[in-house]
Amino acid sequence: MSYVLSFHNILRWLILLFGLLAVVKAVGGVAGKKNYTGSDNKTGLLFMIFCDIQLLLGLVLYFGKDWFAMLKSNAGEVMKNSAMRFFAMEHAVMMIIAWILVHMGRSMVKRADTDAQKHKRSLIYFGIALLLILAMMPWPFRSGVGRPWFPQF
Ligand code: HEM
Repeated sequence: MSYVLSFHNILRWLILLFGLLAVVKAVGGVAGKKNYTGSDNKTGLLFMIFCDIQLLLGLVLYFGKDWFAMLKSNAGEVMKNSAMRFFAMEHAVMMIIAWILVHMGRSMVKRADTDAQKHKRSLIYFGIALLLILAMMPWPFRSGVGRPWFPQF
């Protein structure tokens, strides 16, 4: 399970990189009225693929490390403790919402009629997803729930 946690830790950097790249490209596309290129599409696709793998790893951690079992057997205590509530509820639920937004964004972009619309939809869906991901990350400076920048081997 510690390897899964390490992989989950490292993968967040790829998600942040491609999420940021997708948003920056979308801003450039909207502001500069640029064509929607193959590279724009690939960036969004990689952002989605890394989020998919992260969701799978997250689910393995959630069920494998007893966060769900704890919530089921003692929901009251877990919800009262902000550190436990963070991983048992807030992190998991909000990250799943971000994942849904990334998928919705991909499908909305595919269905857009014009390049301008594709950039605008990328910006809205990927932008909100990225903000959620940033907000729900257990950054090392967060009290109670902070985790290391990089995996500890
Ligand atoms: C974009 C999506 C996600 C990102 C960027 C992310 C990021 C992280 C990071 C950085 C950690 C700390 C790793 C460490 O301690 O070294 C963590 C822990 C954790 N994540 Fe995620 N996560 C995401 C999605 C999810 C999802 C969807 C779930 C569950 C369904 C989940 C469940 C967990 C759990 C249970 C832990 C704590 C594991 C433990 O130490 O017991 N994560 N996550």
